[in-house]
Amino acid sequence: MGEVANSRVYIGSVEQLLPQLLPKCRVIVITDSNIDRCHHALISSYEHIIIGLGEQAKNLTTLEKVYTQLMDMGADRSTFLLGIGGGIVTDITGFVGATYMRGVDFGFIPTTLLAMVDASVGGKNGVNIGGFKNMVGTFLQPNFVICDAAKLSTLSDREFAAGLAEVIKAAVIADAQLFELLESSDFDTLRTDGELLSRVVEAALQVKIDVVAADERERGLRRVLNLGHTIAHAIEKSTRVYNHGEAVAVGLCCVAEVAERLEKLSKADTLRIKDLCVRYNLPTELPEPITKLLKAIRKDKKREGDNLHLILPTAIGAVEDLSLSFDEVENVFKKRDMIKGLIFDMDGTLIQNMPYHMKAFNVLAERLGYQMLQPVTNKFYGRHNDEIFSAIAPQWIIDKYGLQYLSDEKEAIYRELYAGNVRLTDGLAELIADAKSKGVKCYIGSAGPRVNLELIWNGAELDDKIDGYICGDDIVNFKPHPEVFLKSCEAMGVSPEECVVFEDAISGIKAGWAAGCKVVALSTTATVEALAADGVEHIVPNFEGMTIASLEEMLYK
Ligand SMILES: NC(=O)c1ccc[n+]([C@@H]2O[C@H](COP(=O)([O-])OP(=O)(O)OC[C@H]3O[C@@H](n4cnc5c(N)ncnc54)[C@H](O)[C@@H]3O)[C@@H](O)[C@H]2O)c1
Repeated sequence: MGEVANSRVYIGSVEQLLPQLLPKCRVIVITDSNIDRCHHALISSYEHIIIGLGEQAKNLTTLEKVYTQLMDMGADRSTFLLGIGGGIVTDITGFVGATYMRGVDFGFIPTTLLAMVDASVGGKNGVNIGGFKNMVGTFLQPNFVICDAAKLSTLSDREFAAGLAEVIKAAVIADAQLFELLESSDFDTLRTDGELLSRVVEAALQVKIDVVAADERERGLRRVLNLGHTIAHAIEKSTRVYNHGEAVAVGLCCVAEVAERLEKLSKADTLRIKDLCVRYNLPTELPEPITKLLKAIRKDKKREGDNLHLILPTAIGAVEDLSLSFDEVENVFKKRDMIKGLIFDMDGTLIQNMPYHMKAFNVLAERLGYQMLQPVTNKFYGRHNDEIFSAIAPQWIIDKYGLQYLSDEKEAIYRELYAGNVRLTDGLAELIADAKSKGVKCYIGSAGPRVNLELIWNGAELDDKIDGYICGDDIVNFKPHPEVFLKSCEAMGVSPEECVVFEDAISGIKAGWAAGCKVVALSTTATVEALAADGVEHIVPNFEGMTIASLEEMLYK
């Protein structure tokens, strides 16, 4: 399909292409045990060397073993090396090819999607040292690369998805049409539709070929291919949770967020990138706080002095190479990490100002990368007090929660009363539906919103719609209590200091504060001042007249 330097890239059947491409000399295959098992007929027709599995095998020890085996086999400068496997095999084969007896010819048959669209093309080969990725390596092109989508049928779903991360990366860098094509399909279709898969492989490969052809030795332009990789490498170094492709997906989402924060990428595009990762079974969230990853990022080989080259998406299909000071990068990431949980009180006087508060809350949740949100309240039915509630609670709620029985007639009164405040329940339902559609975990804290929501969805249905119900024991108490907030934080897996509470009730503000959360007091200036005089700290004073930008500014201070 294309040519990079002296290397030709083919898409098609290995069985048909290989006989035409192999030179008439001794051929030694380098592969791993999985490929040998899944594609034994192909491997066993050549002399072969089997290397270890996984990233930990991509090291100097493996290189030494391969050199020794080649020497034992009597391989000389006329021997042709054929790497058949994933990126580990192609990187090792390329390195050996570039260095064994000062260099021998080699070719690749990539067998993972990741190796097809990325690792096997471009002539870069590297091995890891002391846990740092690709610290030593070579630039040398294989004679040929054969990409045969049929060879991917034996690949696990997880490895297939990992390759898709590099496909998505290629689309974000330079191919908006490929991005749209992926948006219009899904994981299962791509796994089973060979023709579509070949098209996708071809398009992603084309991006890589074009970039490499313009800058073979990574002097400038080629750096765009590192989109998301600085963070991905740091993730791979610090945790074994994600494989390379998965780490790239998280890296992509992370740089999209950085670009958005620097106002280089629209929020809509950030979300499209995240949504596409989710669509193809890829993770989008960092496995641990970025602060822990910064140490590894500092050692990243792309660091030049105190500046870090970071490739940032500026649109779907366009990127920019930005040199940021290390402090700047740190600050962007640190800010992102400071707040992880949101608790939004959905009752009381909030309903008066619901549209704006709701919007602010949603915007903030989005800015956080849609982490978690948790409507929480301690009272029933908004501004109606407990007496009204106990006078109107419907039978089924009372049965369920052990409250006093009251008549259908009272329930009707309740509904009528409630109708005036229907925004409250509607808003909450909308918020949950919106959050869930974007993959946000959504918990109901305390009884109030649960009861409200059960008026829309019956109990079982509600349980399907939320991720959990936290503060059931507060049903009889009705009083905002620090325990409610602590339990909520616990359920979200965040510490209170990492959590922001949006609260209007003085008792709620105090309770959130006592729990150690940062509180956005949705109250009048006088109330907030009085609270501050009472010694309540951590309050973001008065929400009145505040813009979303100024709110963010204050929260991240
Ligand atoms: N040189 C480059 O330009 C470049 C670019 C991108 C990635 N890489 C490197 O590639 C490596 C990751 O490559 P990878 O994701 O292909 O990993 P990999 O080589 O470890 O392959 C993943 C797993 O799939 C198995 N496998 C491979 N093909 C299979 C098949 N057809 N059927 C069943 N199982 C199969 C392998 O045995 C392995 O267990 C990383 O080290 C990364 O740094 C290099």
